[in-house]
Amino acid sequence: IKRTAASTPPLPPVYSEGVPVVGNVKAFMSGPMQFARRGYQACGEVFTLRLGWKRLTFLVGPAAHAVFFRATDEELDQAPVYSFSVPVFGEGVVYDAPLPVRLEQFRFVSTALRPSRLREYVPWMVREAESYFQRHWVGDSGTADILQSLSQLIILTASRCLMGREVREHLFEEVSQLYHDLDQGMQPLSVFAPHAPTRAHWRRDRAHRQMKRLFHRVMQERRQRYAAEAERAQREGRDGQVAVDAVKEADMLQTFMDATYKSGKPLSDDEITGLLIAVLFAGQHTSTITGSWTGLLALRDAAVVQQLHEEQAQVLVDERGQFAIDYDRLLRLDRLHRCIKEALRMYPPLIFIMRQVMQPRQYQQYTIPTGDILVVSPSISMRLPQVFAEPDRYDPERYAPPREEDKQAPFSHIGFGGGRHACMGEQFAYLQIKTIWSVLLRDFDMEAVGALPQPDYEAMVVGPKPPCLVRWRRRERNGGNV
Ligand code: HEM
Repeated sequence: IKRTAASTPPLPPVYSEGVPVVGNVKAFMSGPMQFARRGYQACGEVFTLRLGWKRLTFLVGPAAHAVFFRATDEELDQAPVYSFSVPVFGEGVVYDAPLPVRLEQFRFVSTALRPSRLREYVPWMVREAESYFQRHWVGDSGTADILQSLSQLIILTASRCLMGREVREHLFEEVSQLYHDLDQGMQPLSVFAPHAPTRAHWRRDRAHRQMKRLFHRVMQERRQRYAAEAERAQREGRDGQVAVDAVKEADMLQTFMDATYKSGKPLSDDEITGLLIAVLFAGQHTSTITGSWTGLLALRDAAVVQQLHEEQAQVLVDERGQFAIDYDRLLRLDRLHRCIKEALRMYPPLIFIMRQVMQPRQYQQYTIPTGDILVVSPSISMRLPQVFAEPDRYDPERYAPPREEDKQAPFSHIGFGGGRHACMGEQFAYLQIKTIWSVLLRDFDMEAVGALPQPDYEAMVVGPKPPCLVRWRRRERNGGNV
C-alpha cells in the first residue's frame, strides 16, 4: 500500500468554498467563471473543482493549454461533455456519432468553409448587411441596440450562406422561429438533464422534427430541379452534368448534399439537417456577440474609430474611387481584424471549453485522472498579465508587430479554441464581422450610449447584457465614394 501510494503521482490541488458539497455547487451556479478564477488565484495553473460527484479540472495559461489542445480524441473526448446538444442537432450527428463518423462530418463542414467557398459567400454577406441597415435603421438618425441588430442580421446571412437561397427567400420566418425554439431548449438545465420534461424541451423536440421536414422538402425540390435540368440538356444534345453544375447552388447545404463518406455512402437528409443546425449554433451567438463587443469597445475610443475610418479609405476603394467590399480587401483590413481579436480576448463568448479525460494526463507533477472533465477557460486565460500586458486595457494594437503579444507562446489567444478542434468558422466569422462594420463605418457616424455593458455570465454563450445602445447618424455619401 505504501509503495503504491508513493509511486502514484499526486492529483491536482482541489479548490473548495463554503460548506462541503453544497458550498461548491452554490458558488458554481452563482458565477462559474468567477468561482474558477478564484480557484486559479488560490491554486495556480492547474486545480480541481468538485461539483457533487463530478470533478472539473482547470488548466490555465499557454503552457497548460498545450496539454489540452495537443491531445488526441482518444485521450480527451468532446462527445460526453457536449452530449446535451444531441436533442438539438439530432441523433447520429456530430457528438452523437462514433468518432470516425464525427471526424468525417467535421471534414464536410470544413470543406464548406474553405477559402474558395468563403470568397463566394462574401457578396451575400455584403448584400445582407447593406439591405438590413437600409430597412431597419431608417431616417437620418436614431438609436439602436447593436446586439439585437447584429443578431437579426447574422441569422439572415447564415441562412443565405449556409442553409441556402430557398430558406433565405421563402422560408426565413419559419426557420428563424424553429431556431428560436431549438435555442430556448438549450438552457443550463439542459446540460444536466437534457430530457427533463419541460415545456422548452418539448418545443425543442418539436422544432427539431419540423426542421427535418422543412429541409427534406428543400433538398427534394433541389434534386428534382437538377434532374429536370439534366434531362433538358440531354434532350438538347448538351452534357447533363455540365448543365447541372451551372445551376447548382453554392451554399453549405449543397456541399453536404454532394458529400460522401469514405465508404461512398452519401449523408442522409437527417444528417444534413443536423449538421446545418450544428453549424448554425456554432456561429450564431458567438458571431453576434463578438461583432457587438467589437463595436461597443471601439466606439468608446475616438482614436480607434479614426484609425478604422482611415483604413477603410485606404483598403476598400476600387480603381474608380468607389467603395468596394470583397474577399481580398476584407483580408487586408488589419486594424479592424485586431479590434475583433481584442474584443474576443476581453469578452470571449465561450467561457469554458471542455473535454472528458479518457486516458490520464500529466501536467507538471500532477496526474489528471480518467473521468475528470478537463476545462480551459478563454475568459480567465486571456486576462493573464504575464501573457497580455495590462490585460484589462482595451488595446487592439497589442497584436501588431513588433509586440504581437498573442504570438509569444502557442495557445495564448484561445477565443477560437486551438489544436485539432480549433474553430472551423474563424475565417467566416472574421469576414462576416468585418463586412458588417465596414458597411456601418461607411454609412453611419456612431457613438456608444452609456457605460460599457457587463457580460452576462448566466447565459450559455456569454454576451453583453442589454441594453447595448448606439446612437447613429447617416453619413453624407458622395456617389459611393468613401
Ligand atoms: C469550434 C469559437 C464562429 C463553426 C469552436 C471552438 C471555439 C469557437 C472556442 C472550440 C470548441 C472546442 O474546442 O470544444 C467561436 C467564436 C466564433 C465562432 C468565438 C465567432 C466569433 C463560428 C462560425 C462557425 C463555427 C461562424 C461556422 C460557420 C465551428 C465548428 C467548430 C467550432 C464547426 C467545431 C470544430 C471541432 O470541434 O473540430 N468555435 N466560433 N464557429 N466552431 Fe466556432
